[in-house]
Amino acid sequence: MSELRATDEASWWRQAVVYQIYPRSFADANGDGIGDLRGITSRVDHLRDLGVDAVWLSPFYPSALADGGYDVDDHRDVDPKIGTLAEFDDMVAALKAAGIRLIVDIVPNHTSNRHVWFREALAAAPGSPARDRYVFRRGEGPDGERPPSDWIANFGGSAWEPVGDGQWYLHMFAPEQPDLNWQNPEVRADFLETLRFWADRGVDGFRVDVAHGLAKDLTPPLPSQAELDAEDLPHGMHRLEDRDEVHEIYEEWREVFDSYDPPRTAVAEAWVDSAPRRARYASPEGLGQAFNFDLLLAAWDAAEFREVIEENLALSRTSGTSSTWVFSNHDVVRHATRYALPAGTDLKAWLRSDGTDPKPDAEAGLRRARAATLLALALPGSTYVYQGEELGLPEVADLPPDVLQDPTWVRSGGTRKGRDGCRVPLPWTATGPSLGFGPGPAHLPQPAGFAELSVERQRADEESTLAFYTRALAERRRLQTAESLEWAPDAPADVVRFSRPGGWISITNFGTDPVPLPAGRVVVASAPLPDGQLPGDTTAWLEPEA
Ligand code: GLC
Ligand code: CA
Repeated sequence: MSELRATDEASWWRQAVVYQIYPRSFADANGDGIGDLRGITSRVDHLRDLGVDAVWLSPFYPSALADGGYDVDDHRDVDPKIGTLAEFDDMVAALKAAGIRLIVDIVPNHTSNRHVWFREALAAAPGSPARDRYVFRRGEGPDGERPPSDWIANFGGSAWEPVGDGQWYLHMFAPEQPDLNWQNPEVRADFLETLRFWADRGVDGFRVDVAHGLAKDLTPPLPSQAELDAEDLPHGMHRLEDRDEVHEIYEEWREVFDSYDPPRTAVAEAWVDSAPRRARYASPEGLGQAFNFDLLLAAWDAAEFREVIEENLALSRTSGTSSTWVFSNHDVVRHATRYALPAGTDLKAWLRSDGTDPKPDAEAGLRRARAATLLALALPGSTYVYQGEELGLPEVADLPPDVLQDPTWVRSGGTRKGRDGCRVPLPWTATGPSLGFGPGPAHLPQPAGFAELSVERQRADEESTLAFYTRALAERRRLQTAESLEWAPDAPADVVRFSRPGGWISITNFGTDPVPLPAGRVVVASAPLPDGQLPGDTTAWLEPEA
């Protein structure tokens, strides 16, 4: 077990609290409705007061926003709609001055269809070097008029797009996101340059988008979608994802990371079969850390939480890393809302009902979300906080179809609403055209309830979710030491209770009846503790009396 302190320069990430900024929805300085880098710089105080260690910035690169910026035109520039490289440098400086590090999103699985490489590929002939940077295949039929396979893209619809000469290109996401060919050495070299470009600009680490998708086995004949779905191959041999050889790419990246002092860090977004498969992305010879979505996917249930925590702590110990804990991000229904719905609710169907069927119990949802967050903040490892969860924002499920931006909506033929409901711009003030997000209206409309949840309102209220997060982060910073945890041997079935070095205790009551509090001084709690007891859906931290 590592006894490293979170404050060690080279291992700052091991127990960091990382705040995810989805830049277009965070703060809009120039009033065009889209959040921008100057907006972020103007709100660094909020991040400092909240007490986060680092920011993870979702894509801010030039983009037509076919997929919210994950369609990147140029990996080494800033989208003119949201700023300039000089403004990026100002933002980094402001964050650094506030003691906050910066992780940027790297999108290696695909470029946008406006990337210079893709334009070159379209202009070049079939079989040319320019086309080899992507995945072009001849279509079926005499003139190649049918797609090379019946594969379905992640956002719906065919995963192949024709280019008019019998050739088709692969896109596992939107058609505006052609997949790169990672067997091409130029592709590999270019990303190493991109990593250096941002590391040289003061970036501390990278969040690696779709890290499991880069290596693909496209040896003909291509399997059908049904065959892919039924694939019963040994781990590491799946045709399109989580192939063993993907780790060779990250070993090369590691050499770049380790050429800096302190070494740059990375965290993989890898939606893979199992926690042990995920651990491979987190190895110190590879990316070093990986998002652990197991708590995000778990029901609000003590036994499930305990199991997930135990498994992930054990895995991170054996692979020499620290775990990550995540409940919300820009791709999923916000956790204050997930916990407001009955366990097992089909979230896609629920979104389709505009959030009415079943009706969420917002109060219970927020109460559980606070309890879950406080529990995760007590764990060894790093915790990711998605912008707005510190305000207890709910999912906005009733956005009208005409404002939806997620390609999922159109690509699924209007059957899946997609992810806009967690990307609604933040409310900073209780009044104003976009509640302080910017001087004008926001690119997605905010619901009336956001005014009450604004930073301005919550700052003035000691019981607010914002005040709670701020307290919890400050106490965590004070208490967090070595990365170990000891389970309480006699906790009741509905209770998750453990202690950390120094003797501080975290206890969560997943049940409905209050339970007695352990001895000690209450440091912070996710809800009031009437009669000195721990009510249902509540977490408390205690430390030994001085
Ligand atoms: C990742 C991102 C998601 C994006 C997709 C394609 O899953 O988190 O927002 O749509 O990759 O880049
Ligand atoms: Ca703007």
